[in-house]
Amino acid sequence: MPEKFISIQEALDNGKGKVAVRGWIYRERGSNQFKFLVLRDSTNMIQCVLPHDKFKKQWKEIDKLMIESSVEVEGVVKKEPRAPTNYDLQVEKIKIIQAAEPFPIAKDQSTEFLADNRHLWLRSRKMTAILKIRSSVFGAIDEYFKGEGFYEYHSPIFQSVQAEGGSTLFEVPYFGNKGVFLAQTWQLYAEPAIFALEKIYTIAPSFRAEKSKTSRHLTEYWHAEMEAAWINFDELNDYGEALLKFIVGKVLSKNKKELEVLGRDIKKLEPTLKKKFPRMTYDDVLKLLKKKYKLNISWGKDLRTIEEDRLSELYDVPVIVTRYPKKVKAFYMKEDPKNPKVVLGADFIAPEGYGEIIGASEREPDIKKIKDRLKEQGEDPKEYEFYLDTRRYGSVPHAGFGMGVERVIAWICGLDNIKDAIPFPRTMIRWQP
Ligand code: 4AD
Ligand code: MG
Repeated sequence: MPEKFISIQEALDNGKGKVAVRGWIYRERGSNQFKFLVLRDSTNMIQCVLPHDKFKKQWKEIDKLMIESSVEVEGVVKKEPRAPTNYDLQVEKIKIIQAAEPFPIAKDQSTEFLADNRHLWLRSRKMTAILKIRSSVFGAIDEYFKGEGFYEYHSPIFQSVQAEGGSTLFEVPYFGNKGVFLAQTWQLYAEPAIFALEKIYTIAPSFRAEKSKTSRHLTEYWHAEMEAAWINFDELNDYGEALLKFIVGKVLSKNKKELEVLGRDIKKLEPTLKKKFPRMTYDDVLKLLKKKYKLNISWGKDLRTIEEDRLSELYDVPVIVTRYPKKVKAFYMKEDPKNPKVVLGADFIAPEGYGEIIGASEREPDIKKIKDRLKEQGEDPKEYEFYLDTRRYGSVPHAGFGMGVERVIAWICGLDNIKDAIPFPRTMIRWQP
């Protein structure tokens, strides 16, 4: 075999000439005369033709090759309109790296079976396409924030306080100590750092002991969060809107092929690039849902999945819902100076029923108000002293948000379930393999 291999995509782009490629057998069929192997690598696939005449010595092994075997081949690329990617590779040499055992995954397998064999299912065309888009999304988040002058900053995963409600907190054994939890958010450990860096972001795992088995909840998900000093509520929402536009723009420019593999109608994503996201208050949403769907939601109740879904049906871009009732939102959200019953918090509701993709808020500066709300939730404000110090030494207006990266990927890819937006999904009932 030669020293230099090229990717299958490069071989197809060349369209002719002698090449060496390597990868895994995606499909195989054969007769006494020929063996046809569709070979895939991370870039594409090409049909390889092996005539019996040329491979008499190796024929026994070649004839037995099954899917997912790994091989290296050298041969000549030729146009062949009947082949899956319009070219054939007329093989001259083949080296079998490993002859695979019968691959457990065949057609029409149940979701459960595929979940048990997730480590193998990752190689499917569907998962490969999603994983490529996922990589673009992560890259876009970094590029966006770096471009806006944000520093990347990291908070601990082992934390000593809750931020998003005790009911979804994972407590972990920690050398016999109590009160050690997995991060639900970076936020309480990020706010102290704006006094040093002013504008910061991260992409890190967050953990929620969600007892709900829905298509949009994971117990471990990747959380893109930002926090910035001196910005107000509208500027915060501007950042969220610009970030989502940037991500969708990147995926549309880099991943057309993958979106096609997934059967995603890209017309559904294009409005997000072009249109401004509607911003409306919680009160407006109640009125709208009443008018359009005759839904009666009593003031003060959080919006549920069905209500968010109904709202999302009315728009083809994310909707920014602002000024929720204080009692349904986290203790750190700033009270609206014009109405103490609501907070300067926003949820970005994705189109097509993908739910809340961003949770955002301006932060409450008043220590007493923060303490009162912690107490209302049954928390001991003493545990939060380190956090309250952010309001004691040069406190400034500041705000931030968190974006559920898998929710955004599920929406962009048009997935039925958030589980396919992450390689090894963790839910209440799934933590293996
Ligand atoms: O709305 P949340 O709970 O907000 C926070 O955690 C804030 N501390 C963020 C901040 O201001 N820095 O979570 C933020 C986002 C949600 O909008 C949602 O997209 C996602 O995280 N999310 C989940 N994604 C998948 N599975 C879950 N169980 C999720 N819970 C929240
Ligand atoms: Mg939220």
